[in-house]
Amino acid sequence: MTMLSPYQPPRLDPLTYTAVSKHLIADVSFGDQSALQQNCDVRELLGQFGSPLFVVSEEALRQLYKGFHSAFSMPGIDTRVAYSYKTNYLPAICAILHAEGAWAEVVSGAEYELTRALGVDPSGVIFNGPYKANDELEWALQDGAIVNIDNFDELKRIEDLAVHIRRPCRVGIRVNFKFGPSPWNKFGFNYESGEAAKALDRIGRNKALKFELLHNHSGTFQLNQEVYGRAVEVLIDLAKHARNAGLEPTMVDLGGGYPSGNRLKPEFDLPASQRRARNLLHPYGEAVLGKLLAAKELFGGKPTLVLEPGRALVDSAVQLFCSVVSTKTIPNQGKAVIVDAGVNLVPTAYWYEHQVDQVEEAGEEAGLESVSIYGPLCMQIDVLRENMMLPPLKLGDPVVVSNVGAYCHTQSMQFIQPRPATVLLGPDGPELIRKRESWRDFFVLDRMPNRLKPDGFAL
Ligand SMILES: Cc1ncc(COP(=O)(O)O)c(C=O)c1O
Repeated sequence: MTMLSPYQPPRLDPLTYTAVSKHLIADVSFGDQSALQQNCDVRELLGQFGSPLFVVSEEALRQLYKGFHSAFSMPGIDTRVAYSYKTNYLPAICAILHAEGAWAEVVSGAEYELTRALGVDPSGVIFNGPYKANDELEWALQDGAIVNIDNFDELKRIEDLAVHIRRPCRVGIRVNFKFGPSPWNKFGFNYESGEAAKALDRIGRNKALKFELLHNHSGTFQLNQEVYGRAVEVLIDLAKHARNAGLEPTMVDLGGGYPSGNRLKPEFDLPASQRRARNLLHPYGEAVLGKLLAAKELFGGKPTLVLEPGRALVDSAVQLFCSVVSTKTIPNQGKAVIVDAGVNLVPTAYWYEHQVDQVEEAGEEAGLESVSIYGPLCMQIDVLRENMMLPPLKLGDPVVVSNVGAYCHTQSMQFIQPRPATVLLGPDGPELIRKRESWRDFFVLDRMPNRLKPDGFAL
C-alpha cells in the first residue's frame, strides 16, 4: 500500500514592487561607456593580452567613488564609504578605491587578510557576515577593526574572546526589520521582536566591548530609497536604547545595495520601467542625511555615516572585450554569433541585459540586424544577449560587453574555459593586473596517487 504524505496547504507569497524591481534599469552618475573605448584600441589590446580580456578604467572607478561619496555628504556628518570587497576584490581595484579614501567592508577571513596585505588601516575595516571563525574574529578585534555582530552565538564567542584581547573590542550589531516583502531577514538581530534591544542590553553589561555602530543592509539593487530612510529611523530608535544601556554609538552603517548602470532583462522588469536620471544616487542621500543629522546628539554630536556600496562603485568601470568565433543562422530564430566569453565570466547575464557593442564601424549601408550572442560553453544556457540589434558581425570581430565590474570576477567560473587576463587602463596606459589562466591552473591543487599515475604524467 502506498503511504500518502500529509497534506501541505499551498502557499502564496505576494510579489510586490520591491521584490521584482531589484535589478531594474538604472543609470549611475558615471555612465559614459564610450569614455573607456576612447582611450584604447580594442583590437590592439586583444592582440596584446589575448581574447577575451577584462578591462578596468581607473578614471571611471575614481569618478564613481567621488560621485557616490558626494551623494551622501552633508556638513555635520562624517561620511565613510566602505567598499564591499566581495563585489570585486581584484587587489588593484581595492587599492585604487583605498587611494580615494575608501574604507573596506569584508565578509570573510580571506577578504580580511587582503585588507592586511594591502596595508589598509584596520580602524577603517568593517567585518560583516553571518559566520566569522574564532581566529578571524580574534585578528580583527585585536587589530582594532569593527566587527558587526550577527547573532547571539557570535556575541557569546566574542565575549569569550574579549577576555584575552588586550584592547577594547570595537563592535556593532547588524539589525533587520520588516519593510515590504524584503527577504533579507537571515542576517542580524530583529528589531520588531526586541531581539536587537536585548543584544544592546547584553553588550552594555560587558566592559570589554566598545560598542560603536548600528548596521542594516536591506538588499540588492534597491530601487526604493525609502528603505534606507526607514533604516535610519530604526537605527536611531535603537541608538536611544543603546544610550539608555550606557553605550555610546557614533556610527550608522546602511550597508550596500545601491543600483549600478545595468539594465534588467524585460522578463524581470517592471512594465513602467524607464531609464533613471544620471544623479540616481542623490535621492538615496536625501532619504537619510537629514534624518541622521537631526539625531546627531545620539551619536556624539557628529554622526559617522558608513555606506557599503559594491556594484554602484565598480560595475560601470569594467568592460569585457571578446571576439566572434563563429556565426550561424539558426532555423526559425535567425542570426546567432558565438563569442569566446559567456556566463562563465559574466554570470550576471542571467538577469541583466548587459550593453553589448560592436566596436568597429560597419558603415551606414550595413544597417542593423537582430542577433543572439552565445558564449563558448558546451551548454545551451550560455547566452550573453538574445535578439539584440547590432551591425552585422563577422568572424574575428571584437565585441565589448559593458558594466561587468560587479560580481563577474568574483563569481566567474573556472569551468571548461580558463579565465582571461585583466588589464587596468590607467595614466600610464594598459597594465596587466591579472594574468590569463592556462589549463594547468585548473589542476594546480590536484594530486595524483602514485598507483593511478599514467607513465610520464605531469600536471
Ligand atoms: C552586508 C553587505 N554590504 C554590502 C553589500 C554590497 O552590495 P551591493 O554590491 O549590492 O552594493 C552586500 C551585498 O550583498 C552585503 O551583504
